[in-house]
Amino acid sequence: MTHAIARAHPNIALVKYWGKRDASANLPATGSLSMTLDVFPTTTTVTVDPVLARDLLVLGGEERDGVPRERVERFLDLVRAASGSAAHARVETVNTVPSAAGLASSASGFAALAGAAAAAYGLDLDERGLSRLARRGSGSASRSVIPGFAVWHAGTDDETSFAEQVPAPDLAMVVTMVDCREKAVSSREAMRRTVLTSPFYPAWVSSTRQSLESALSACAAGDVERLGRIAETNALRMHAVIQACDPPLRYLSPASVEIFDRIAALRERGIGAYATADAGPNVVVLTRPEDATTVAAEIAGLAETVTAHPGPGLQVLERVPR
Ligand code: DP6
Repeated sequence: MTHAIARAHPNIALVKYWGKRDASANLPATGSLSMTLDVFPTTTTVTVDPVLARDLLVLGGEERDGVPRERVERFLDLVRAASGSAAHARVETVNTVPSAAGLASSASGFAALAGAAAAAYGLDLDERGLSRLARRGSGSASRSVIPGFAVWHAGTDDETSFAEQVPAPDLAMVVTMVDCREKAVSSREAMRRTVLTSPFYPAWVSSTRQSLESALSACAAGDVERLGRIAETNALRMHAVIQACDPPLRYLSPASVEIFDRIAALRERGIGAYATADAGPNVVVLTRPEDATTVAAEIAGLAETVTAHPGPGLQVLERVPR
């Protein structure tokens, strides 16, 4: 038996990934840009055990069956194909982020799984290889392999679609916990529905390509205001393209909208703060580290908050035998 332990953190996109050009290789329609957080790590242990008849998934101490286990098994199939092993594995995952609440647990989850599985099955992958592998589990996981700010290049095939680090200004994110219950529609299903039914989808794709270019140049120039404005606009455009789906779908709650309004009001008072939200009601506010306390105070009363800074990339903590 070989086992390996890896840890990864969630990331929050400033320019979002929403829609695939190829579902089987998990290639996105556009590139995206994110910050990996220093809070809410996921730690995953993969134990390769030739005696097992199928892969086992233990999530937060509870054995899970159904879709989550099948997703892990399909992912491990890729690792087995690359390593030439037929053995199954036991996967134990501990999330510290509320699962499936639009706080990117699939990003940290599949990044940690990619690191632990690659190590346990003896694959020797560099950062790019790990990012490509994590992408196959969940697109946004490709970016959680990378420390700090990451651009995920859309690419045209499996080899060219990976994330890498980009320089960025000093920033913090105030994460609000509006509602951490499991969401009714997964981002995977919602993305599929958007591509198939939202009449605004082509405009989303073309505007996101432009936003990514502008955001990367704002990052390089250290221009927090421009980066923040692009991030907030891009997030609202993503929620708009989602809200135009059939059957209808909406992730933002009244409390989320209230937070967007409060952040706009803070800007009127001269504080550089910009709101974004993934596929869930929990708003995340981008700001300078020195303004994070002011932002958190503005939201207190509406939701609990946690302040995050740029965090580490994927770490393999242990491999036995080495
Ligand atoms: C709204 O990465 O969860 O968080 O590739 O189907 O697993 P799959 O989707 P996933 O989608 C994340 C969408 C998002 C935006 C983002 O992180 O860029």
